[in-house]
Amino acid sequence: MRKHRVVVAGCGGMSRLWLDYAQSGEKVEIAALVDLYEETARRRAAERGLDVPIFTDLAEALSKVEADLVFDVTIPASHKTVVTTALSAGCHVFGEKPMAESLEDAKEIVRVAGQTGKRYAVMQNRRYNRQIRALRELIAGGTIGKVGSIHADFFLGPHFGGFRDAMESPLIVDMAIHTFDQARFISGADPVSVYCHEYNPPGSWYQGNASAVCIFEMSDGSVFTYRGSWCAEGFPTSWEADWRIIGSRGTARWNGSSTPEAEVVDESAEPGFIRAVRRVEAKAAWNGREGHAGCLDEMFAALEEGRPAETDCTDNIKSMAMVFGALESAKTGRKVMLDHL
Ligand SMILES: NC(=O)c1ccc[n+]([C@@H]2O[C@H](COP(=O)([O-])OP(=O)(O)OC[C@H]3O[C@@H](n4cnc5c(N)ncnc54)[C@H](O)[C@@H]3O)[C@@H](O)[C@H]2O)c1
Repeated sequence: MRKHRVVVAGCGGMSRLWLDYAQSGEKVEIAALVDLYEETARRRAAERGLDVPIFTDLAEALSKVEADLVFDVTIPASHKTVVTTALSAGCHVFGEKPMAESLEDAKEIVRVAGQTGKRYAVMQNRRYNRQIRALRELIAGGTIGKVGSIHADFFLGPHFGGFRDAMESPLIVDMAIHTFDQARFISGADPVSVYCHEYNPPGSWYQGNASAVCIFEMSDGSVFTYRGSWCAEGFPTSWEADWRIIGSRGTARWNGSSTPEAEVVDESAEPGFIRAVRRVEAKAAWNGREGHAGCLDEMFAALEEGRPAETDCTDNIKSMAMVFGALESAKTGRKVMLDHL
């Protein structure tokens, strides 16, 4: 297999994981590192033993080195410029979530990808997890019957510093994109509408809204509710969120770290006020790599096979619509329709 020549844009914290992948396999040759701050890129190159050209501007890098792929590991505010620059220069792009800071920008990226015929796939590493795949199979297999409700709780108190502390909606834009995308992945349904209340609770160390409650109607008729906070200290949930999915025959639960399980009505038991249930443990047939490596494996496989990746921008825009629909609802105080997408 021919190696892809990759320019890595953004050499901050997350670039470590992307460079781990690039430097550990046979698929990639690193062509250059780019960061707005030359010193940041130089430090990363030295730390990783990389003797490659360093640039502070992606367009300049792509005009000077030969490359067919760009890893976009910059901050959300830079994604639109970085991705469209790379696509227009004839490169495919694999990039960090979220696609962009507005739905208009995300749509523009999808348009440029279509126009250039290049692929843009988005990192949704939380789909690449044995347990979430087991949960999805359990639900798709009809164990709990027809799904009516999906509930996700997300409560953590991370002190990041940096760009998230200054964002207007750090929880919804930078984190809930994962949980919303997970809800689509688990249910196999797409969003139809959203109502959201977003707020910044007492004691918050974020400038923007770090908590939110959302209600989504989904295309299969189910309702997905999200309760989340990034400034909730004590009794944390996992980063995968804490899930309860209720179907016509029972309930599935996943706390994000243990094997998902379900309780389904035991049809063989005597009918009663509260019916007897039996436990079913979810089993995963999937044995790919987890997290970033799993998502990147899929992105490279899709490129080789000439098909869109599972998290191609044309799919990921539906998760983005949940994010920006939620923000619009929070601003207007109204339910926002999403099915026009
Ligand atoms: N998938 C996940 O689980 C996960 C986890 C953390 C962060 N992220 C995402 O990864 C991305 C990067 O996050 P981070 O924590 O590494 O941030 P960071 O601030 O540590 O690093 C980002 C780097 O990008 C550089 N940069 C910004 N604009 C640029 C541009 N136009 N050209 C070149 N370089 C530019 C900055 O100078 C900085 O060094 C974000 O989109 C974030 O949401 C994803």
